[in-house]
Amino acid sequence: MPAIELGVGEIHVWEVEPEAIAVQERLDRYAAWLSAAEVARRQRFKFERHRHGFLIARALVRGTLTRYVPAIAPEGWRFVIGAHGRPEIDPSLGAGDLRFNLSHTHGRAVLAVARGDDVGVDVEARDRKGNLRGISTHFFAAPEVASLDGLDGPALAERFFDYWTLKEAYMKARGVGISLGLGRFWFTIADDGAIAINFVDGFDDEPADWSFRRFDLGPIHPVALALRRPRGAPLDVKLHRALPGEPLMSVETIAGGASTGLVVAGLGSL
Ligand SMILES: CC(C)(COP(=O)(O)OP(=O)(O)OC[C@H]1O[C@@H](n2cnc3c(N)ncnc32)[C@H](O)[C@@H]1OP(=O)(O)O)[C@@H](O)C(=O)NCCC(=O)NCCS
Repeated sequence: MPAIELGVGEIHVWEVEPEAIAVQERLDRYAAWLSAAEVARRQRFKFERHRHGFLIARALVRGTLTRYVPAIAPEGWRFVIGAHGRPEIDPSLGAGDLRFNLSHTHGRAVLAVARGDDVGVDVEARDRKGNLRGISTHFFAAPEVASLDGLDGPALAERFFDYWTLKEAYMKARGVGISLGLGRFWFTIADDGAIAINFVDGFDDEPADWSFRRFDLGPIHPVALALRRPRGAPLDVKLHRALPGEPLMSVETIAGGASTGLVVAGLGSL
């Protein structure tokens, strides 16, 4: 298969529904792609659903990266882990400047692939129970907490998960996790959907260096993307659906939170 082209200023997002992938022959093939360390990590999960989710997420990463560098088979990818746990492609593989970030939650695994720039992705499940206002008071910055005032029900959940996923995507793009201080940066979302990040004085980063996008996968899965690329510079986001290691089923352009569908094949049986 020819390599999928990916330019600077593009993010390719790949999504799968782990629970829908159940054909044993396929699962066996994915299991054979795992490294010894991944096999050991998979076995440490107590519950089968977690072992399954781990396997599908690994297959999503390995199978997708091969689409960009077909000379490296899914089982050939090696990763190096940063100081705060962020995996990157092992530079000794010679895969160029390909970057990726993975996120998974109940019902979805999502992979973002970009060229060169720091990229982060987060997917959550909006049906998660919990005291959203209480959580926001604990985790969000004051302007974010204030902007939730007066919201309730679905409107509250929507804005809460906008902030949550954006904060996670930014932290993941930086690769340093919550050591950044969740209350030391915050998001503003304009009426036209434009997203901006803001920092407290002395924060070691530049708001104008970042571009963000958010969109939904189905009714309950909000997704946010962060890319270290000047705000306002062209950014092309494409959403792909495919089973790892198998032909592409569909690709859509994501624009302003919505998607314009360009379906290239039927979904078929998983
Ligand atoms: C990894 C981390 C950054 C996000 O964890 P998460 O939201 O539970 O998980 P996600 O599914 O979105 O991402 C997990 C994946 O990110 C990648 N990852 C791990 N460490 C990472 C890091 N420091 N930076 C970026 N990506 C990382 C891995 O591929 C990981 O997949 P794996 O666990 O299957 O190996 C976590 O360490 C963290 O700091 N979470 C903060 C949670 C929090 O308090 N959020 C408040 C938001 S307001």
